[in-house]
Amino acid sequence: MRRTTLSRYLIEEQREKGKINADLRLLLEVVSRACKGISIAIGKGASAENGGVFGEAGSENVQGEAQKKLDILSNEILLEANEWGGHLAGMASEEMAEPHSIPNRYPQGEYLLLFDPLDGSSNIDINVSVGTIFSVLRCPDGADPTQSSSFQQAGTQQVAAGYAVYGPTTLLVLTVGDGVVCFTLDREYGSFVLTHENMQIPADTKEFAINMSNARFWDAPVKRYVDDLLAGANGPRGKDFNMRWVAAMVADVHRIMTRGGVFLYPIDSRNRDKGGKLRLMYEANPMAFIVEQAGGAATTGTERIMSIVPTALHQRVSVILGSKSEVEIVEKYYREMN
Ligand code: AHG
Ligand code: MN
Ligand code: MN
Repeated sequence: MRRTTLSRYLIEEQREKGKINADLRLLLEVVSRACKGISIAIGKGASAENGGVFGEAGSENVQGEAQKKLDILSNEILLEANEWGGHLAGMASEEMAEPHSIPNRYPQGEYLLLFDPLDGSSNIDINVSVGTIFSVLRCPDGADPTQSSSFQQAGTQQVAAGYAVYGPTTLLVLTVGDGVVCFTLDREYGSFVLTHENMQIPADTKEFAINMSNARFWDAPVKRYVDDLLAGANGPRGKDFNMRWVAAMVADVHRIMTRGGVFLYPIDSRNRDKGGKLRLMYEANPMAFIVEQAGGAATTGTERIMSIVPTALHQRVSVILGSKSEVEIVEKYYREMN
């Protein structure tokens, strides 16, 4: 049986379908190589040299969050891999206050790459799935890629997005606006092999994901929605729902991509002044692009996530995404109760 590797898939998207150009193909190859590097580092865990890759780095990022060693290492792996290929105009990351410019000894490309190098940091030390999330935009003509304003484009402008999940297997899920595909890392060959073509999120579900410990802070529409789910077969929904929360968006979204469900990290009274918890440009937008490409939906409750024009690089946002019919119910409650 001939297996389709990521390289082959990308070449076909370029040559046969004309969906991507050679630079975007290179970019996606390079990002996948970096994810492979991160996967290897995670696999070594505490056994790696110099005390291992787990634990605190002893520093904070621009958002005041304590950085883990692996947050920093993953960021460095992505920066280093993408700097010199000539496919990028600039990069931005959760772990860097300002955009990272391409050193002028290297050629500049037309694309901007944004990433959450290590998503689900609190899972690192307990050996539970973590991931990488990335989004690709074009650098607007004449725009300065060292400025955040060049990156501040609506999610609808994304030309590609993806995530890697570092779980029992390492997966790479990708969209170039032509549906969603999933590759599994074959560790022996060191290559990503196509294992799910055309991922589709079932429209209906019986599973939801939300951090229930925040219930007392939620807006009334979210409270009403979750109360309906908890009421199960005896409530307005007339069926029992199950709940899962991995605390790594990549893992929760991947479960939804695989068997349906809805994920909520809504704006609430505790995070309202920040705009929410999750970051728009390198968490919510790429996930929204992937979810929409798989037939799902992604909203803040009142607005399609990908329509938002960002005003800051590290802007946060309310996130409700997954199976379309569930997302529509939350939106309906927001309309009725606002
Ligand atoms: P990160 O590790 O990149 O900061 O992201 C963590 C995010 C997201 O992955 C997850 O869904 C959420 O934070 C979990 O938050 P709680 O700990 O509040 O449940
Ligand atoms: Mn994250
Ligand atoms: Mn992160």
